[in-house]
Amino acid sequence: MTQYQHVTGDTSVYRDGTIKLHGPEGFEGMRKAGQLAARILDEMAVRVQPGVTTGELDSVVREMTLDGGAVPATLGYRGYTHSCCISINHVVCHGIPSDKRLKDGDIVNIDVTPLLDGWHGDTSRMFLVGDVPLKAKKLVEVTYECLMAGIAQVRPGARLGDIGAAIQQIAERQRYGVVRDFCGHGLGRLFHDAPEVVHAARAGTGPELKAGMFMTIEPMINLGRPHVKLLNDGWTAVTRDKSLSAQFEHSIGITEDGAEIFTSSPTGLHKPPYA
Ligand code: MF3
Ligand code: CO
Ligand code: CO
Repeated sequence: MTQYQHVTGDTSVYRDGTIKLHGPEGFEGMRKAGQLAARILDEMAVRVQPGVTTGELDSVVREMTLDGGAVPATLGYRGYTHSCCISINHVVCHGIPSDKRLKDGDIVNIDVTPLLDGWHGDTSRMFLVGDVPLKAKKLVEVTYECLMAGIAQVRPGARLGDIGAAIQQIAERQRYGVVRDFCGHGLGRLFHDAPEVVHAARAGTGPELKAGMFMTIEPMINLGRPHVKLLNDGWTAVTRDKSLSAQFEHSIGITEDGAEIFTSSPTGLHKPPYA
């Protein structure tokens, strides 16, 4: 049975399998962390160019996070030593920043998670490097559509499975593969908390959504089959069939009548087309 727990001013919150329910202070904290995260990705939109290395982008993420009074939640997380994840082309997620250079035609996901005043703002977007083939652009656009269709399901009384059902329907209509090996997650004072937000599901199944829940929705959609494999570095997940993969992520809070998106940008740069 699903258990819910009201989080008040207490900062000691544990990964005990309960779904946390938050009040106004939580929403305020998440708004601030989410806005910083969105601002960092807005800067990435300017910096993503053919020739830049993913390590250089990671340094900018680190600097901006620290300047914003936050720390990158990924630094030191389970032995991860970078400030963001950068996943190019057939990399599904958790690409490690390095001296690799972006090149014309790449599609790239940058995933950032500033931890600000105890709250996590977790968000990722796709960026197009130079001239991108039409079928890659379409994958990126449909993946964004998947994220927003998932968010549109969110309101008190809906079920967790409604989110995955909406996403799966849109992706599979295009014969794209929905990745099953990674999920969205509850977050707040914790980076990864209950519930697991699966991106392929049956409508009407899973825990009931309640006002005050915080979660990410972060569908990974492949141009080919849904299957992934992990590289020897222990982090980088790639598509088994080498097909392109795209992902968008927002952190949201459930309100009385729907969802508040903590990580959208006032500039509109969080959504395609970016031109
Ligand atoms: N930001 C990722 C997520 O959306 C998690 C990255 S953990 C890392 O949940 F260690 F790989 F950075
Ligand atoms: Co996440
Ligand atoms: Co993320």
